[in-house]
Amino acid sequence: MIKHDRFLARTGETLVHSAIRQMGTIAAQLPDVISFAPGYPAPETFPWAEYRDIAAELLSGRDGSVLQYGPTRGYGPLLESLQALLAGRGVTAGLDELMVSTGSQQGLTLVARLLIDPGDVILVELPTYTGAIAAFRNAQATLVGVQQEEDGIDIAHLDEVYLQQVAGGRRVKFLYVVPNFQNPTGLLIGLDKRRRLLEWAERRDVLIVEDDPYGDLYFEDSARPEDTRPIKADDDEGRVVYLSSFSKTLAPAFRVAWIAAPAALVSKFDTAKQSADLCTSNLDQRIAYEACRRGVLERQWPRLRRHYQHKRTVMTRALSRALGDLVSWPHPRGGFFLWASLPPEIDTERMLARATEQRIIYVAGRAFFVDGRGAHLMRLSFSLPTAERIEQGVARLANVIRAELAATPGRRSAPVEADL
Ligand SMILES: Cc1ncc(COP(=O)(O)O)c(C=O)c1O
Repeated sequence: MIKHDRFLARTGETLVHSAIRQMGTIAAQLPDVISFAPGYPAPETFPWAEYRDIAAELLSGRDGSVLQYGPTRGYGPLLESLQALLAGRGVTAGLDELMVSTGSQQGLTLVARLLIDPGDVILVELPTYTGAIAAFRNAQATLVGVQQEEDGIDIAHLDEVYLQQVAGGRRVKFLYVVPNFQNPTGLLIGLDKRRRLLEWAERRDVLIVEDDPYGDLYFEDSARPEDTRPIKADDDEGRVVYLSSFSKTLAPAFRVAWIAAPAALVSKFDTAKQSADLCTSNLDQRIAYEACRRGVLERQWPRLRRHYQHKRTVMTRALSRALGDLVSWPHPRGGFFLWASLPPEIDTERMLARATEQRIIYVAGRAFFVDGRGAHLMRLSFSLPTAERIEQGVARLANVIRAELAATPGRRSAPVEADL
């Protein structure tokens, strides 16, 4: 076999892999593992019967366009449904300001391809979504982190970091944020802060890339729908590129997501997408469209909110009981994730070996930080396992953490505050 390394382009050599996908591979190989690692929706929430009916009709052969190539921007009637969906979130978008992407992950890749020159500075939250880190790094961006507070990104720190970068002669292109139930912290950016963030972006002439896959999944015991109002809803001058997805509400397998952005950018995203995949699967888009048209999506929302709220409660209760003296976390008010802070002497990456032995996995915190921090943090997803498995998993995790602590030199007292 010849050596292929010498054929790789520079990007090919430096591509960043996903820590989360790697955990998924490990999980798949272990019998009886309880996985708090991937942010997968719960399959028991999928409306299987309705999808079966929709797919059977679409595949009846009556409409040949179902299995054809479609326009790069997306299936027209679906775009119109997306307009209505966005209007419900307070976002007005013309048809020329909207396009479908193959998952929001493709949206991030298109954003990277269109907006990032090597060396450009992209500001991200500390911590942030690993898929965005990978997409932006693969475009050779310099990623610079901004601290978060209980109500999301710290605007004073944001400005400080911005000014430092500009003083160093670097160009800051955009700020990437996940305002609703952030992956990985579960945090919600406060409404007032969203407005101030937009003002900041206008003052500093920076774009905002707003990624919102979890906004519909607020928990009624601790958040209101208006708390999830996108930054994009108040964007009068086209500062915000807004991404959202059906992955967490309909199903990730459809790979149907969308971008709302100024028409001039959407036209460029369209061109970039043409060379990426020509179009998102027409069949998948048609299923998503039918799910919107027939009210499947609307009926899913309250079910999903109840389902994940319940699992969140099961996880927080089990953690408080088993690890309340050692572990702290910001209370998840929506979404899929709980962000756990362990005693500082624990390294969650190192602890994974012990955890996998005990058939429990999570994502170690460092993967979400662009500045190398996060060693004593971990992301626990409560979305996929059943309530019973969540309780078992937390019991296993408690054993793992206590054993790790006993085996770790320089043991100190536990943290009391949730650590972002
Ligand atoms: C914040 C965030 N953005 C984007 C994605 C990618 O989603 P999609 O399945 O639409 O590609 C995810 C998936 O977990 C996510 O958490």
